[in-house]
Amino acid sequence: MHKSAITIIALLFSSLTLTAQEDMDKYVSALMEKMTVEEKIGQLNLMPGTSFTTGEPKDNPLLQMAAEGKLGAVLNMSGEKNLKILQDAATRQSRLGIPVMVGMDVIHGYETVFPIPLAMSCSWDMEAIEQSTRIAAKEATADGICWTFSPMVDIALDARWGRIAEGSGEDPFLGSCIAQAMVRGYQGNFSKQNLMACVKHYALYGAAEAGRDYNTVDMSRIRMFNQFMPPYKAAAEAGAGSFMTSFNIVEYVPATTNRWLLDDVLRKEWGWNGFVVTDYGSIDEVAAHGLGNLTKASVMALKAGTDMDMCSGGFIKTLSQSLSDGSISMEDIDTACRRVLEAKYKLGLFKDPYRFLDAKRRATDIYTPEHRRFARQMATKTFVLLKNEGNILPLKPQGRIALIGPMADNGANMVGTWAPMAKRSRVATLKETMKQRLKDNAQVDYAQGCNFTSDPVLQADGGAWIAAPWKNADTLMAEAISVAERADVIVCAMGEESEMSGESHCRASLEMFDAQQHLIEQLLKLGKPIVLLNFAGRPTVMTWEQSHIPAIMNVWFPGSEASDAICDVLFGEAVPSGKLTVSMPQATGQEPLYYNQLPTGRPMGENAQRFCLYKSNYLDVRNDPLYPFGYGLSYTTFAYSDITLEGRTATIRVSNTGDYDADEIVQLYIHDVEASISRPVKELKGFRRIHLAKGESTEVSFTITDDMLKFYNQQLDYVLEPGDFEIMIGPDSNLKNLKKTILSITDDTNQ
Ligand code: NOJ
Repeated sequence: MHKSAITIIALLFSSLTLTAQEDMDKYVSALMEKMTVEEKIGQLNLMPGTSFTTGEPKDNPLLQMAAEGKLGAVLNMSGEKNLKILQDAATRQSRLGIPVMVGMDVIHGYETVFPIPLAMSCSWDMEAIEQSTRIAAKEATADGICWTFSPMVDIALDARWGRIAEGSGEDPFLGSCIAQAMVRGYQGNFSKQNLMACVKHYALYGAAEAGRDYNTVDMSRIRMFNQFMPPYKAAAEAGAGSFMTSFNIVEYVPATTNRWLLDDVLRKEWGWNGFVVTDYGSIDEVAAHGLGNLTKASVMALKAGTDMDMCSGGFIKTLSQSLSDGSISMEDIDTACRRVLEAKYKLGLFKDPYRFLDAKRRATDIYTPEHRRFARQMATKTFVLLKNEGNILPLKPQGRIALIGPMADNGANMVGTWAPMAKRSRVATLKETMKQRLKDNAQVDYAQGCNFTSDPVLQADGGAWIAAPWKNADTLMAEAISVAERADVIVCAMGEESEMSGESHCRASLEMFDAQQHLIEQLLKLGKPIVLLNFAGRPTVMTWEQSHIPAIMNVWFPGSEASDAICDVLFGEAVPSGKLTVSMPQATGQEPLYYNQLPTGRPMGENAQRFCLYKSNYLDVRNDPLYPFGYGLSYTTFAYSDITLEGRTATIRVSNTGDYDADEIVQLYIHDVEASISRPVKELKGFRRIHLAKGESTEVSFTITDDMLKFYNQQLDYVLEPGDFEIMIGPDSNLKNLKKTILSITDDTNQ
């Protein structure tokens, strides 16, 4: 592409107008003229936060760095008082008074905590997701933060990978929509209630082999561009201010030192103009990848297009020497420094370094009733009803309810992973909320029932602050049976603990823990209706549960308003509408499992029970997931008409045929029947979240754009190849539930 065209696109991506861009250029250039080499390198240095006992630089190395102009940014510290000390050192004591950027992992809310990102993706509600990030930004900026390490847009196909909890699941199209919604919500127009977004982890972090965190990634470029890159690209196009490199290698070179990735693709091909920060200690890890020591890694990283070093100390310690010996040029340093200063300019920090340090806002803008109401409503949209035999759900608020399980009286744990600012101890437990809400109508009896797991290593890793107390298994069981014997219905609150997913928390088997299954087996013997609320940070294997338990709802980790949201849905004040954004396997051995797979030369028969000789399948389970991508039940039922196709517009009538007003997520999939490369069996290309009163119906139309039909071919050109495309619309990705028609694109219809 021509360079000037790229510049124009880059300007469009950034939210700056041409004059604003010129003003920024002028300001930053004038400032850089005054800066020494050391001061420029200082801007590229990001250090961990701390709390200060005094405001004297000599008392704290971080303050000292700020006062010497050797600190560009800090991470994971908050609070107006503390941050003011830091900003004072940077702006009043350093030679040029350049303010410090304050970053934090604001992943799913701040003190008002929303469901984990994987759960939020199951709402398929872009407005709500955007609003959740707007609220998160409002709260975090009220506490001094101006930069968030979010959104995490890594496509994840392997449920063993713990960080699947932090992303939006397996689909690139949905993932792209969510990435953009989040960037919009965080950044807005960079007011003082907005955060700068940081898109992570670029690139392919979710493709770690065998679902083991930080493991090797190896992938063809065709797959990269068709399946893994779209959400990063979408976030860049939405104007995200920064990107974070991933820990892994891409084509045998760590992402942090990968010039092709950072410069050729992200900057030149996509025309993105923000700044790139490494992940924590990534430059340091280059040596472990076998590419050279900290000095060499810092040179490679800077030259590749990394602008800021997160906590390796590589840039600050070595770049000056590397400049002297000619390994890098002044231009390399200037380029990175300019990008960092531009980010500070966009955030308005030069105009007012104390912009995010308004002590009054802490009291008015954080954990407000309005934010909490929204979080509760949001959480109800993320639950996925997996099974509801005999319409056990919603429960009637009457009689005796036995509430059993290690999650039943554990508010802290329901918040989910990676919520550093959550005040976990104030989160109401299910037991408290259910008792309170039903006090006039029903008796709620509680028993812990079992430990999360009988594996002491796993149990201990959860940490005393969130784990339910470790107790004698026999005593717990006896209590549970006695409570359940008296009940009309049993609600089991169990699954994973909050810290069994997230960074560095991968699992090699995804089945329910033995202690929990054993408890349910005993409860089933009582012959009473059982509802399982499954807490999970990833798709778990529910095969045994599906064949034994009448009602199952995946509630993931719903955040700070978990207990109210769960009661809303359990007792029918809200109707479940979430749909899976990850395939849930029948067995761990099926992983990585995803719906948009490529066909094989030897597909197993559609109707085959199990093993078919010389076909692509297993001896012991069929290839299908237990619950497919896009799946989720409601308390009502929906009927879909056939598709009518007029030109490029496909229309379907959806009717609410059940007894509840409810939301439905209508999904459009496309399959390219014949192409120059093998294409996935189906790909999500559109969706609508609609509301239908009971008895109501509506038409839903999708216009099939060129973009929905295009793909990256063997030459990595983004092309539309004329021919037949199967158009499928329905409630989930299961072929049997989809209505189908064919759209033929000829050379003339392909404009
Ligand atoms: C490491 C994680 O991979 C990344 O997601 C996070 O933003 C940084 N640490 C900073 O906490």
